[in-house]
This record gives sequence, structure tokens and C-alpha cells, in this order.
Amino acid sequence: MSWKDFWDGEHSIYVNARHRTLHDRRIAADIAALIPSPEAVVLDYACGEATAAEVVVGRCARLVLSDAAPSVRAKLTDRHAGRADVAVLSPEEVKALAPDTFDLIVVNSLLQYLSRGELDAMLAMLRPLLKPAGTLVIGDVIPRGKSPLSDAASLLRFGWEGGFFIPAVIGLVRTFFSDYRKLRAELGLSFYDADEMLAIFDHAGFTAVRRKINIGHNQARMTFAARRAL
Ligand SMILES: C[S@@+](CC[C@H](N)C(=O)[O-])C[C@H]1O[C@@H](n2cnc3c(N)ncnc32)[C@H](O)[C@@H]1O
Repeated sequence: MSWKDFWDGEHSIYVNARHRTLHDRRIAADIAALIPSPEAVVLDYACGEATAAEVVVGRCARLVLSDAAPSVRAKLTDRHAGRADVAVLSPEEVKALAPDTFDLIVVNSLLQYLSRGELDAMLAMLRPLLKPAGTLVIGDVIPRGKSPLSDAASLLRFGWEGGFFIPAVIGLVRTFFSDYRKLRAELGLSFYDADEMLAIFDHAGFTAVRRKINIGHNQARMTFAARRAL
């Protein structure tokens, strides 16, 4: 099994429906806040089910949602059927888009599931799709040396604030015995320090900075904003 298969199947990453709703709302609000103008064309790459995507669409002219998992894309296509301002595309379809298409590209909580080679390939694919003044924002990057306990603490805090503390505790126990944990032990996750990420962006032809605030609730993780280097 690969991480792609994991995300394409049934999983219990969200401890309950409230967790998913609050998570997706928070991500959507954070992405919406990055949109530079109502005319902007935005790509949410590795978007997941993005159940609060209407918050993002409300702030831009056109939103492209892309995810590698066919089952996730099928749900997105159903939800947004008939909307002219939302498109659901596979990564291969994104790759085939015209250069200079996007004012903003967001990739949140994906890098940990990519090998270094896959990360480089993704940056090479996304770079020409950005308008010259466009921004690529990569969020939720896990720094090296962070213990999984910090993720657990962040989930418990989110659960406490969001009214799903007990389900969060139960969810942590469930994760301990889950496919996610087995897969994590088998395939591993990718971690990067901030300087390492900045060097990777530089190598891929971007000028990047680390943003003060991470997308989402886990502030132990990092977000970077990058532009095409001249
Ligand atoms: C942790 S979820 C993040 C979802 C959303 N961005 C968020 O922040 O809630 C990771 C998503 O990345 C997708 N994914 C995994 N590998 C991918 C790849 N190589 N290209 C595009 N999407 C990928 C998975 O299908 C999954 O929906």
C-alpha cells in the first residue's frame, strides 16, 4: 500500500464529523485569506474533500481543486457539479494546463507524504502554472525532530477548543492501532527544516519565505510562500 492508496480508501484521519467540519472550515478560511483579489484564479492542490471550499470560491473568480485520489475527486465532482467557477482536475490534467494560469496555488499537508523526488517533480510542474506575480503557498510542513506527541497535543487542543475532546482522545487510541500508523512505520513521512525548504525552493527556481503562521491549527508545522524567481 502507498500513501496515495491510503488516501483513496476509507480512513479515520478525522476523529468524527465535527473534527472534519472544523478542520475543513479552518483550512478554507486560511486559504481564503491568502487570495489576492476577487479576480484571482486559485489552485488547491492535494485539496482532499475540501468540504468548505465554497468559502474559497466566494473570494476568487475561479477555483481549481485537484487531488491524486480518484475517490476524493469523485466526491468533489458530485458536490460541485454544474458550477462554472469550480473545476475538479487530476494532477495529470493540472500538469496540462496553460502556463501562467494561477494567481495563487496552495498545497497544504501534502509534503510529508511525498518523497524528495516527488516534491521536486511537483515544484517543477507547478512553477510554470503560476503567473509571474503569483504565489505558491506550501503549508503544514513538518519540521525534522518533531515527535508525533506534538501532533497528538495539537489534535487534543483543537478537540478541546472545538468541543470534540473525548472523540479526539478515542481517535488517538484508534490511530495507534490503525493502518495509518502501520503505513507510517513502513513508508515513513518526509520532514524538512525551514532552511532546507528554502534551499529546495531556491533550487526549483522560486524565491521563498517562511510565513509566521501555519495554515490550519497545528502551529508546530510550517508554511512557506514562494514566487517564481526572476
Ligand atoms: C492530508 S490530506 C490534505 C488535504 C487538504 N489539503 C487539507 O489540508 O486538509 C493529503 C491529500 O493529498 C492527496 N495526495 C496524496 N498524494 C498526492 C499527490 N502526489 N498529488 C496530489 N495529491 C496527493 C491525498 O489524496 C489527500 O487527499
